[in-house]
Amino acid sequence: MRSPIARSSPQSIADYREAARRALPKMVFDFFDGGGGSESTLTHNREAFDAKRLIGSAPVDVSVRSQEQTLFGKTHSMPLIIGPTGLASAAWPKGDVALARAAGRASIPFVMSTAGTCTQQEVARAGGGTRWMQLYLFKNRDFSARLVDKAEALGFEAIEVTVDNAVAGKRLRDARNGFSLPLRWTPAKIADLVRHPAWALRMARSGGPRLEVMASELGLEANDTIAEVMDSQLDPSVNWTDIARLRDRWKKPLIVKGVLDPRQVEKAIAIGVDGLVISNHGGRQLDGAVATIDVLPEFVTAAKGRLTLLLDSGIRTGSDIARALALGADAVQIGRATLYALATGGEDAVFHALGLLRHELDIVQAMVGAARIEDFHPGMIHTPMASPPDFPLPVAIAG
Ligand SMILES: Cc1cc2nc3c(=O)[nH]c(=O)nc-3n(C[C@H](O)[C@H](O)[C@H](O)COP(=O)(O)O)c2cc1C
Repeated sequence: MRSPIARSSPQSIADYREAARRALPKMVFDFFDGGGGSESTLTHNREAFDAKRLIGSAPVDVSVRSQEQTLFGKTHSMPLIIGPTGLASAAWPKGDVALARAAGRASIPFVMSTAGTCTQQEVARAGGGTRWMQLYLFKNRDFSARLVDKAEALGFEAIEVTVDNAVAGKRLRDARNGFSLPLRWTPAKIADLVRHPAWALRMARSGGPRLEVMASELGLEANDTIAEVMDSQLDPSVNWTDIARLRDRWKKPLIVKGVLDPRQVEKAIAIGVDGLVISNHGGRQLDGAVATIDVLPEFVTAAKGRLTLLLDSGIRTGSDIARALALGADAVQIGRATLYALATGGEDAVFHALGLLRHELDIVQAMVGAARIEDFHPGMIHTPMASPPDFPLPVAIAG
């Protein structure tokens, strides 16, 4: 994959995170980077991936390798999806379009957020890739229904309805930073802005981020924090009956995003849901939530191949993608990984970051002996033995 990004550019998502930290004013970086409450889930998401250790199984013939994966009848270049992230244009002007274009160039799906900062029309027109629409079932159900109908008319190919937002998570960093919409400037923030002139100039030229999808129809109050904006719209009454109604309205693939309880699998199947995103919202919602990689095996057991299982929350490397595939995910979604890249160089940087993940996954494939995505299996993850092996100690030590 050719990329216009120079060789000295970030070489990992961790590098992109540091580059984003330098490129963005603190309150904007914190909005993207932060989690809910004590951020214990945010931290734990990484710990849980790191605790799963891969087993290399050389020698296996891996001379010809492929990452192609078919989801809902359509084949993509790799088992990766750019997931929905609100307020992307706070990272880069027309952020949603930039993400959509990069995903299109990489031949992977892009999921547009209801909290999007471009219109559905703009994203639909952005390149020829696969577009899915993320949906919040807001108190104003007419608004949500209109989004679904527009998604249909504009050729979006799937809906991901997010269910882990009964209320907005408590984001302490945003509250402490006074991160609001539109951005509200205090002397301290202006000083921070002066330290980030390139970002400030880009925002000044583009007019700054606006929740385009929501703003036109919902009459948002100026100077609300993001949590206040979301809380004013989110509907804590949402339940499986609403998903069933959505199923009646939307005939293409329907995916429920934000499940952590494998007992929900049967309900989803009964309603006719096509896929689940096992997600803790990247640690932004339920503080103390279980890591998705830890519940994935239970979902696989419950689903018995009847549902497409996607997973997100904490994916930063190709090795993380491999671990999720080995434990039974059909594909993974990313949120922050591509946002960090977006903040540093727009579409080209996002495309470059996708290339890094593709290369990292390829290396893991070669080393674990998974020439194709379907070759991944749970035996590639080391399972500690329940009790120590029953071998006698060597005599010299035991004596
Ligand atoms: C800044 C930001 C905004 C997000 N906005 C949305 C959103 O509008 N809708 C949604 O369903 N999920 C949203 N998410 C959650 C992501 O879709 C995804 O679940 C999460 O980022 C995955 O974790 P990761 O960032 O560790 O990859 C957002 C995440 C971030 C970081």
